Amino acid sequence: MSRHHILVTGGAGFIGSHLVDRLLHEGHRVVVIDNGSTGSLENLAGVRDDPRLEVIHTRVSQCPRLDTLVREASFVFHLAAAVGVELVVQSPVGTIHNNLAESEVILRAAAEARTPVLFTSTSEVYGKSQREVFTENDDLIIGPPHLGRWSYACSKLMDEFLAMAYAKEHGLEVTIVRLFNTVGPRQTGRYGMVLPRFIEAARSHRPVRVYGSGQQTRCFCLVHDTVEALVRLMRLPAARGEVFNVGNDEEVSIHHLAERVILELQSSSSIELVPYEKAYVPGFEDMLRRRPSVAKLERATGFRPRTTLSEIIRWTAGLPTAKA
Ligand SMILES: NC(=O)c1ccc[n+]([C@@H]2O[C@H](COP(=O)([O-])OP(=O)(O)OC[C@H]3O[C@@H](n4cnc5c(N)ncnc54)[C@H](O)[C@@H]3O)[C@@H](O)[C@H]2O)c1
Repeated sequence: MSRHHILVTGGAGFIGSHLVDRLLHEGHRVVVIDNGSTGSLENLAGVRDDPRLEVIHTRVSQCPRLDTLVREASFVFHLAAAVGVELVVQSPVGTIHNNLAESEVILRAAAEARTPVLFTSTSEVYGKSQREVFTENDDLIIGPPHLGRWSYACSKLMDEFLAMAYAKEHGLEVTIVRLFNTVGPRQTGRYGMVLPRFIEAARSHRPVRVYGSGQQTRCFCLVHDTVEALVRLMRLPAARGEVFNVGNDEEVSIHHLAERVILELQSSSSIELVPYEKAYVPGFEDMLRRRPSVAKLERATGFRPRTTLSEIIRWTAGLPTAKA
C-alpha cells in the first residue's frame, strides 16, 4: 500500500491552514477535509493553486472517501472541531456532537488503517484546576453540566479517552496535544477569541472590552511556534501514546494584553471592563490562570515556543516584525 499524503482535518481553519502551508513547504502532498463551519478557503488562498494540495469540502463523517484517504495517508492531523468559548456557550449540542462524533470516525478509520494520528485537544481540559503550572499527568477538574462552557472541555477530554482506548485495544498510534491559547494571523475574533477581538477594536479606536476584572492571566503562543511543535511531534515515533502540552509559558494578564495591543497599534482606544454575565451568560466560570509546563515537549522535541508577546501582537495585527 502506498501512503502518499498527509491528511489534515480542519485544514482550512486558523491553525490547520498554517500547518498546511508548512507541510506543503516541506514538500508533502496534503489532503484537507473541512466543512467551512468556522474555517474558510480564504485561509488557504496562498496555496490554493499548489498541485500537491487537495481540499475536500465536507464534514469529516460525511466524506465518502474517508477510509481510503486515511489508509493512503502517512499521517493524520485531526484538528476539525467546534472551537471557541462563545460558540460553545451558544451551541452546546452542536459542540458536543461535532467534537465526539467526528473524532470517533477518524480514530476508528486510523486504527483500522494503522495510520498514526495527532489529535488536537485543549488546555480547557485542565478545567478549574488551581495549579500554577499545568502538567500532562495532573488531575482534571471540570465544572458541572448545567454550565454549557464545560461541554467543550468534556467533549475534548472524552476524545482523549477514546484515543487512548483505541491505542490500547486496537494499537492506534496516537499523539494527543493540549493546545493552550494559540494566536496569529487568520484567527477570527467572531467566536470570542480575545486577541483578534482586541486588535479589531484597537484598530478602529473603539473601546477594548476586557471581560471580568482583567486580572486573569493567559499564555499566548504564536501559531508558527504551534505548527513547529506539531510537525516535530509528527516525526517522533516516541510521541505516540503520549499527551503533550503545546503553548508559550510567558504569562500575561488580559488587562495588560489590552494595554499592549493599544500600545503596539498606537491606538486611542480606552479599556472597558465588561462583567462575565454580560459577556457570556449568568454563572459563567472563568479560570484565573492557565499556564502550561512545556518541559515534556522540550525534552521530546528539543523545542519550546518562545516568541515574545510584542512580536505575537505584531504578527497577529500584520505589523512589521523582527522575524518577518
Ligand atoms: N486556537 C486555539 O487557541 C486552540 C486552543 C486549544 C485547542 N485548539 C484546537 O485546535 C484545533 C484547531 O482550532 P483553530 O483555532 O484552528 O479553530 P478553527 O475553527 O479555525 O478550525 C477548526 C476547523 O475545523 C473545521 N471543522 C469543524 N468541524 C468540522 C467537521 N465536522 N468536519 C470538517 N471540518 C470541520 C472548521 O471549518 C475549521 O476550519 C481544534 O481542534 C481546537 O479545538 C485550538
